[in-house]
Amino acid sequence: MEMPLARLCGTLGRVCGACTRQRKCQVPCVRTWSLRTLSTGDKDHGGNGTSKETSESPFTGPQHPPGGHAPVRLGSKRRPLSPLERISRLLPQEALSQEVWDLRDATAKGLENGQEERRSLKSPPPIEQGYVEGGPSPTVSGEKPLGVGELVLAEYHGRFRQEFRKMFQLQEKGCLQSPWGFLTHRAIMGHISGTVMRFSGGAPVLVRRPSLEEYVLLMRRAPTIAYPKDASAILMMMDVTEGDSVLESGSGSGAMALFLSRAVGSKGTVLSVELRKDHQLRAVRNYQNWRKAWSLHRGEEWPDNVHFHNADLRAATTLLSGRSFNSVALDMLNPQLVLPTVFPHLHTGGVCTVYQANLTQVIDLLEGVRVSRLPIHCERIIEVQHKDWLVTLAIKKDGNSSARVAPHTQNDDNEEGKECQSQDEEMENLAEPAHAPFGTLPYIARPHHHQTSHTAFLVKLRKVVPQ
Ligand SMILES: C[S@@+](CC[C@H](N)C(=O)[O-])C[C@H]1O[C@@H](n2cnc3c(N)ncnc32)[C@H](O)[C@@H]1O
Repeated sequence: MEMPLARLCGTLGRVCGACTRQRKCQVPCVRTWSLRTLSTGDKDHGGNGTSKETSESPFTGPQHPPGGHAPVRLGSKRRPLSPLERISRLLPQEALSQEVWDLRDATAKGLENGQEERRSLKSPPPIEQGYVEGGPSPTVSGEKPLGVGELVLAEYHGRFRQEFRKMFQLQEKGCLQSPWGFLTHRAIMGHISGTVMRFSGGAPVLVRRPSLEEYVLLMRRAPTIAYPKDASAILMMMDVTEGDSVLESGSGSGAMALFLSRAVGSKGTVLSVELRKDHQLRAVRNYQNWRKAWSLHRGEEWPDNVHFHNADLRAATTLLSGRSFNSVALDMLNPQLVLPTVFPHLHTGGVCTVYQANLTQVIDLLEGVRVSRLPIHCERIIEVQHKDWLVTLAIKKDGNSSARVAPHTQNDDNEEGKECQSQDEEMENLAEPAHAPFGTLPYIARPHHHQTSHTAFLVKLRKVVPQ
């Protein structure tokens, strides 16, 4: 075992040396993997640039888990890795020799047997209801299995945080790579969204269709997007309704355009104006990719209701002539400069929301409104804040949970014998959370240490009739 390990270390050194010179290296290196990024066969979804397409042929070796990529229980314990396995996973899998695969397989079996023995001392792993490992995914009527061309989100949540997340398009020969091994796109096809599968290394991964919120967060970006938490507040401020005609600018990466498109529906229209051609192209591509994935999944068209224009909104009088809008959304630098062009086309009583990162920009906007003498009333300036909380069972590293401790009272003395017995029973239960009665387990319940902090200020401007 020592010889292949030494050879692998040498190869690894060479691979990483190459990575430092080549920025878009296709070979996963130690640094990339420590960030827990994943690569897939897709290049236009999820913009971390580590995409790697791999044909399926190299993946027929002994590394496949028994039964192939079968659906599994999320949260099952991971098998410990041998040193050989740890290092060889840092190399392109197709570059490994049969000798290395054989050794990996043998050591993995040894470790798995050891783990099985330890497990059997406790109790058998619980079987999820209605679920048979390796069997077909349970479906309810109307559910459509994942197919070629669809967008898929693969994610793995640890107990305290999300370990990884990757969005990609299902391709015949695609392969999802991870620090825990790979999963071929073909293995995902045919399963329903929401299936838990396993990477070749045994780690569970949930595969499902992304929501629109997740799509805009993970799609490739040109400029920064309007964050979903802000976008939903903007939609409320604008009071967007099905059938509305709305104006938005700039298009940027197309996130806000997608939310507006859904809000106005097939009877409404969105005019999206963008100064930069490259940003406009990115916005159009993101919009079309979402529409394509939607129609593959739903079998019906997402409304084609966004009209992207490459223009400077300050000088877009011809483009806007003859148009009127129920509401307007502005996300750009110096929005005060476009107000004189835009406001004549906004319905009286209608709202224009402005998305600004800095309060100094908000002050410039209000100054712009003041000096332009436009019939605008600033109704609100808000900041939308979400706080993420961690609420999970308080399980210690040894797998046990510390008991909740009640204060000791005099009356309890008479019950001492009983109490000792019930505490023992409780500790037994704590070792097996699935069997513990309702309310008997302690929880961690606190805000997450890492939070999304400030994104933007939202300014609500209303067009009024001057007296
Ligand atoms: C922060 S991005 C908008 C992001 C977008 N809301 C989204 O959700 O993806 C701002 C965009 O405004 C564009 N922009 C700036 N000034 C503009 C103007 N006068 N007319 C049109 N677009 C403009 C910029 O080129 C940039 O793409």
